[in-house]
Amino acid sequence: MKKASVQEPKFWCAEPIETQLLWRVLLFLVFLHLPSSPFHPQSTPPPHFLSTVFASEASIKITMNQLSGAARLMIVSDLDHTMVDHHDSENLSLLRFNALWESNYRHNSLLVFSTGRSPTLYKQLRKEKPMLTPDITITSVGTEITYGNSMVPDDGWVEFLNQKWDKNIVSEETSKFPELTLQSETEQRPHKVSFYVQKDKAQDVMKALSACLEARGLDVKIIYSGGMDLDILPQGAGKGQALAYLLKKLKATDKLPNNTLACGDSGNDAELFSIPDVYGVMVSNAQEELLHWHAANAKDNPKIIHATERCAAGIIQAIGHFHLGPSTSPRDVTDLMDSKMEKFDPSYEVVRFYLFYERWRRAEVENSELYMANLKAVCCASGVFVHPSGIEQPLCDCVNSLRTCYGDKQGKQFWVWVDQVLPAQIDSHSWLVKFKKWEQSGDKQQCCLTTVVLSSKDASVEEGLTWMHVHQTWLDGTDHNNQTTCLYFGGSATAMAEIGRPASFY
Ligand code: GLC
Ligand code: MG
Repeated sequence: MKKASVQEPKFWCAEPIETQLLWRVLLFLVFLHLPSSPFHPQSTPPPHFLSTVFASEASIKITMNQLSGAARLMIVSDLDHTMVDHHDSENLSLLRFNALWESNYRHNSLLVFSTGRSPTLYKQLRKEKPMLTPDITITSVGTEITYGNSMVPDDGWVEFLNQKWDKNIVSEETSKFPELTLQSETEQRPHKVSFYVQKDKAQDVMKALSACLEARGLDVKIIYSGGMDLDILPQGAGKGQALAYLLKKLKATDKLPNNTLACGDSGNDAELFSIPDVYGVMVSNAQEELLHWHAANAKDNPKIIHATERCAAGIIQAIGHFHLGPSTSPRDVTDLMDSKMEKFDPSYEVVRFYLFYERWRRAEVENSELYMANLKAVCCASGVFVHPSGIEQPLCDCVNSLRTCYGDKQGKQFWVWVDQVLPAQIDSHSWLVKFKKWEQSGDKQQCCLTTVVLSSKDASVEEGLTWMHVHQTWLDGTDHNNQTTCLYFGGSATAMAEIGRPASFY
């Protein structure tokens, strides 16, 4: 295969520091003070305003990294059978990864999803599984790079891929191969043509097809994945080239991540592991074609491991193996008494509380009055919870309402996870923490954009953070009917640590 040169960056979400600060202040005002703001539950925001704010979220995240330097860790992960385990109906390893990422990495690291799926099937997967929102999304086998929540496309990448590419010729030549079955319409993309082909025929077809397309003057890349999928892309495309392009862009702005970890399971991930200076993990359940590639091309590279754990658990294993940062998920902490001191921080506080909340509703913690008392103790007496419907309630009343939902999800598929937890320090003792709180019940998901003010005033670290204010609003696109669970936002996970762990805890 020829090596493609990587173009100079043409697009990047860089904003000057003044603009970044302005946005942070603006968001703070919008969430906390302005009753007539578009985020006020009773007003309908004009769509252009929302898109401006959400588009800016991507910039805010990326510029947050710019404020504090290069990303501590950039994880570039495949989704199907890598981040997402389709054989785990409880989504345990994915949820463990989520809690680890949000409590320890989100604020200073970059999460990149790199999938073979088209944007359509990627969005579908997000509706089915308890997934985080990545900072950067690479879809269609490295042919589409997008940034932030609103998935702003990288036009420079599109332009680069247009070179030596003619989709019509690809269609013409592939139609001569009866062994090829075209994949669904959604998976045919401007720089990706995809088929199914039987395993035993794949090698011969790829060889012959490559010769045909070369004879027609095209410079393409043919990739076989999962023992069934055959993708044809421009030579300069692919997950590896997309990652190289991204690294070059980050380097150009002096923001090359301190460490990058690539994670995959199948043929189209192989390229990720050939990018220089990148750590790699092939999850334990990796496909034959990836393991063969590794044996032939990267066997002696100590930066690449074949994990003994499946999917996201393999990613966590690799973080630990390569010493890339903390590798204990809050979901794995069995004794909160031990962890509270070293783990005390606003992100961890939010992650732990919602972990408690999930377990409370699943009756995986004891139904104890002590919990209620301690939750109340960490709520500011004058603290208010603003429900997305506009109803305001004292925080302490919210703790009381938790009583009524104890165990209502016992034995059911029910998960709670927080996403994009971004704390901003307001002054020496308080933080504004903004995040998305997701709940999935069976196959139904709902999301509340949540803003919490936490304070450590008049309290030593041991006593924990006080919840001063909680404000939730529906995330655009969420079904607003039949949603009451946001009412139970609750108190503080620190409270659990203070009262110790009953026998049934965890
Ligand atoms: C995903 C895509 C498919 C592609 C495969 C392998 O499943 O939906 O089009 O062929 O990944 O890259
Ligand atoms: Mg995969």
